[in-house]
Amino acid sequence: MVTIRAATVADQARIQAIVRAARINPRALGWQHFMVANSPDGAVVGVGQVKEHRQGTREIASIAVTPSHMKMGIAALLIDALVAREAGDLFLYCERGLSHFYRRFGFLELSGDHLVPADLLHEVKLARFAMRVIRLIRRSELQLVVMRRLAERHPATFRAMLPPPADSP
Ligand SMILES: CC(C)(COP(=O)(O)OP(=O)(O)OC[C@H]1O[C@@H](n2cnc3c(N)ncnc32)[C@H](O)[C@@H]1OP(=O)(O)O)[C@@H](O)C(=O)NCCC(=O)NCCS
Repeated sequence: MVTIRAATVADQARIQAIVRAARINPRALGWQHFMVANSPDGAVVGVGQVKEHRQGTREIASIAVTPSHMKMGIAALLIDALVAREAGDLFLYCERGLSHFYRRFGFLELSGDHLVPADLLHEVKLARFAMRVIRLIRRSELQLVVMRRLAERHPATFRAMLPPPADSP
């Protein structure tokens, strides 16, 4: 069985190796922000983090699983564990083809950059630039989308936001 746990300093090199092999953003990979997935033999086979940006925006990032362990639900376990530690709204950006995967966890695509917090938008613009270069080299049609997951409100607070039922006095 795969287990998910908070990373320790001993995981730093493995986190970097998995993220680099996955060819996703190799910057800001401090182990303090990561959770990792251990296979039954103890090897780290998946990683993911929540990054905090300059003005406090929190972003799920660096989700990566080693090729030998893909399609076993490990990314889903990591995302569930990362989300469970968060109290507020979360963002992420990903290639459009992956957005349906993140919708399963409550993330929805933002319809425009005006909805993206400024501190995250800075990073998204850098990523789009890198993507344009990759598109030229690989002649692929990759496109980035930004997604947001609203924090779960306390049920009583949420009920107070709803209009009263039609038959109420
Ligand atoms: C994306 C990734 C993290 C998924 O890990 P995983 O442990 O295999 O994921 P799970 O087993 O929990 O779920 C598999 C789902 O991944 C999705 N998926 C994986 N790669 C995908 C791709 N290239 N395009 C679209 N969907 C993809 C599928 O929706 C699949 O869902 P399915 O079960 O309906 O087929 C893994 O493929 C990976 O490490 N990729 C390289 C790094 C990367 O792209 N990270 C995401 C950065 S936003």
